[in-house]
Amino acid sequence: MPAPSTTDPRSVDPRPDDPHAADPRASDPHAVDPRAAARVALERARARTRALVDCLDDDELTAQHSRLMSPLVWDLAHIGNQEEIWLVRAAGGRPALRPELDPLYDAFRTPRADRPALPLLGPDEARAFVARVREASLEVLESVELTTANPLSADAFVFGMVAQHEQQHDETMLATHQLRRGPAVLTAPPPPAAPREALPAEVLVPGGPFTMGTDTEPWALDNERPAHRVDVPAFWLDTVPVTNAAYQEFVDAGGYDEPRWWHPRGWAYVREHGLRAPLFWRREGDSWLRRRFGHVEPVPPEQPVMHVCWYEADAYARWAGRRLPTEAEWEKAARHDPATGRSRRHPWGDDAPGPEHANLGQRHLEPAPAGAYPRGAAPCGARQLLGDVWEWTSSDFTGYPGFAAFPYDEYSKVFLGGDYGDYKVLRGGAFGVDPVACRATFRNWDHPIRRQIFAGFRTARDAEVTD
Ligand SMILES: [Fe+2]
Repeated sequence: MPAPSTTDPRSVDPRPDDPHAADPRASDPHAVDPRAAARVALERARARTRALVDCLDDDELTAQHSRLMSPLVWDLAHIGNQEEIWLVRAAGGRPALRPELDPLYDAFRTPRADRPALPLLGPDEARAFVARVREASLEVLESVELTTANPLSADAFVFGMVAQHEQQHDETMLATHQLRRGPAVLTAPPPPAAPREALPAEVLVPGGPFTMGTDTEPWALDNERPAHRVDVPAFWLDTVPVTNAAYQEFVDAGGYDEPRWWHPRGWAYVREHGLRAPLFWRREGDSWLRRRFGHVEPVPPEQPVMHVCWYEADAYARWAGRRLPTEAEWEKAARHDPATGRSRRHPWGDDAPGPEHANLGQRHLEPAPAGAYPRGAAPCGARQLLGDVWEWTSSDFTGYPGFAAFPYDEYSKVFLGGDYGDYKVLRGGAFGVDPVACRATFRNWDHPIRRQIFAGFRTARDAEVTD
């Protein structure tokens, strides 16, 4: 069972819908009956959503805490609207419950900055709406045939997709909590310490082909498919993500003042916005402090650096005489098992993520120290590839050979190849990512200027012929 979490409302008043009460492995469609897995996944997601909104009053739920984010009450009703569209209408074939809400909660029609001005449902209305939708979707889950003839319902895919969608919004809502000013409302126990052992700074990933992407993961999304062979030359990868201490050396060395380390667009962005350090850091005397979910605390040197944009990650890597790994390199390091030649679901094997493997699921409210989770190590020896922080890669977001949009273009297709702008791929998931939305094939993407996401990075270098 996962370690108990103490996200505030539950630590004060233990709730039956504790998001950590259910073992995430019970929501693994590989391990258990997909219908049962879908029910657990939906319940876990809803318990987390409630924990993120019930700790704030109505004014805080309707406020826009940052122009980068929606009011939390928008996320809440959007979760219900998407669930209604996909589970009640598409999977269940039932009439729409609240079709008039569709335009208000369509993420493409309403930019985040405009959402506070919309006639949104209030917090109580939004809660009642999502509960009504959930009742209907659980009825559909029990009654619908999970036939392979319908790819939407095969292996309960659409239910897994909706649970992942809700968890992804929960992660976005957690980012809103981080941007919000005001007293802390979330708490959780600290992550586990790293074992006292000397780790090599980098690990060698041998060259050769490996299988990237998947055809067999039941709830994998369209952009993770299809599986295909990719030849990746040998390379060295950091054993652990770049730490705050290492990043601080770059800051202290004047890294933000030296154009030679920066991508030209990154340099322009740094100058225009006066960036000097990761988001949420501030200097006080000789030390650096950070703001984290309402607490101001010294920057912990041993934790992976977080809240850096792609340009900062790229500049650090160049300063260090290294580079960011490509997405294929990252996935090969995370999945390729040289002993068998096959690709694993996760770095440690095919078992679903448990609390011993990775810092996932908001059990903790910060990354674990670099080197933690030895049981989650990959065959190459790299640690913390899943969990803790998202990791920027050097790759643009593109479709795999044979990519087919499913079940709708707006999930991935419109973002591929830069239709909506410049996107870099992030891999691995952060502490605020639920296991249902985290696997070694999972792909995230964002603009290279984004810093409010829970993103860090690790660096790589080419292997010499003699390595
Ligand atoms: Fe969404």
